[in-house]
Amino acid sequence: MPMPSEAEIDRLFHAAKAAQAMAHAPYSGFRVGAAVLGEDGAAFAGCNVENAAYPLGACAEAGALSAFVLAGGRRLRAALVLGEGEALTTPCGGCRQRLREFASPDAVVLVAGPQGVRARFTLEALLPASFGPDNLAPTRGPR
Ligand code: THU
Repeated sequence: MPMPSEAEIDRLFHAAKAAQAMAHAPYSGFRVGAAVLGEDGAAFAGCNVENAAYPLGACAEAGALSAFVLAGGRRLRAALVLGEGEALTTPCGGCRQRLREFASPDAVVLVAGPQGVRARFTLEALLPASFGPDNLAPTRGPR
């Protein structure tokens, strides 16, 4: 799977930034945008969507993955998460696993702030020794 080019990273950043502006985060006040890069270089974005029943809130990555799957995406090359504040907005543990469903361990995960990309990881670094679709290969049916 090819590494994302600078132009593709730029595309992810702008898609995530536009999505962040649409976040529904009235409870935490913490707005997040995310975007994932498909095999063909298309970007799909999502924002966090909180809920008055707090545990039902959804992360930005989940929204981006829904858009990606709806468009027919099954393998992603990179993801970018854009948050606010001093600390890096790295994907939460659950979202690392969500990304793993569609990404191999060498996929690139970028963490951005409003001004641009701040850190770059592999999914393997964020989710070592992961459990993924291949673990089910012996028993699973068609996907
Ligand atoms: N959040 C995300 O959308 N993605 C992350 O990777 C980290 C956290 C959201 C969830 C919640 O709406 C807010 O940020 C505060 O946790």
